[in-house]
Amino acid sequence: MAELIQRAADILATSKSAVVLTGAGISVESGIPPFRGKGGLWEKIDPMRYAHINAFLNDPATVWKVLIKEMKQALDRARPNAGHMGLVELERLGILKTVITQNVDGLHQMAGNKDVIEFHGNFARLRCLDCSRHIEMAKVSLAKLPPRCRCGGILRPCCIFFGELIPHRALIRSQQASADCDVMLVIGTSAEVQPAATMPFIAKDNGAFIIEINPEPTPLTASISNLPVMGRAGTIVPRLVEEVRRRLAQV
Ligand code: OAD
Repeated sequence: MAELIQRAADILATSKSAVVLTGAGISVESGIPPFRGKGGLWEKIDPMRYAHINAFLNDPATVWKVLIKEMKQALDRARPNAGHMGLVELERLGILKTVITQNVDGLHQMAGNKDVIEFHGNFARLRCLDCSRHIEMAKVSLAKLPPRCRCGGILRPCCIFFGELIPHRALIRSQQASADCDVMLVIGTSAEVQPAATMPFIAKDNGAFIIEINPEPTPLTASISNLPVMGRAGTIVPRLVEEVRRRLAQV
């Protein structure tokens, strides 16, 4: 493990334009369960029944009660962990240019990263289905579900449901950042959901070195990962950043 971290640090310390793609795994140590695998949200809640846009449009009250309130409980309590903080330091050191995240928890921004692309949107903002007004989730009463806008329209979270398109600007910017990077860190994603899982392939096709941090193997591990580091983000990322910092101090 130590040797893998050293090798990853060698690569990162000479990188000119590193990008990270994160998934639910980076927020597990902040107390937010992942979607897949043991203890994952989709073990408790059937995503096709409650996380598809048609399910929301057919019965918004039930989706609010079953899915959105459940997610809100976990997200409300969560604070950035050592993995998130390591990425802030990597940005501060001038190594990391952009964070592409599939997470809707806002923890990268809360930690302090400046350039964060929210590939699947943000959970803390709501949008009215009728008038498109935006409002903070925290400012809305959830006593009666679904919550409504002052115009009477139903409010939905600004993150995407299954069956919806990726926000256009997030998609274009992510594709560009992936094509332009020389190193891509892929942290805490099962790499099973498209088109997010295509980003490492775009990076690789354009010559980037792929470093993967995950306690479990993913479809990337045996295919395009140059350096899979098997471990938790909260442990591996700070060690990696420390090694990068040491190398930068030597030059
Ligand atoms: P998943 O739940 O599919 O995968 C989480 C990954 O994190 C797994 O590969 C775990 O092995 C890994 N993991 C667990 N604990 C970790 C830790 N401490 N450190 C690092 N990695 C850890 O989550 P995503 O890949 O993000 O979409 O899922 C992608 C999308 O599927 C989500 O954005 C969501 C979901 O349906 C939408 O909501 C649209």
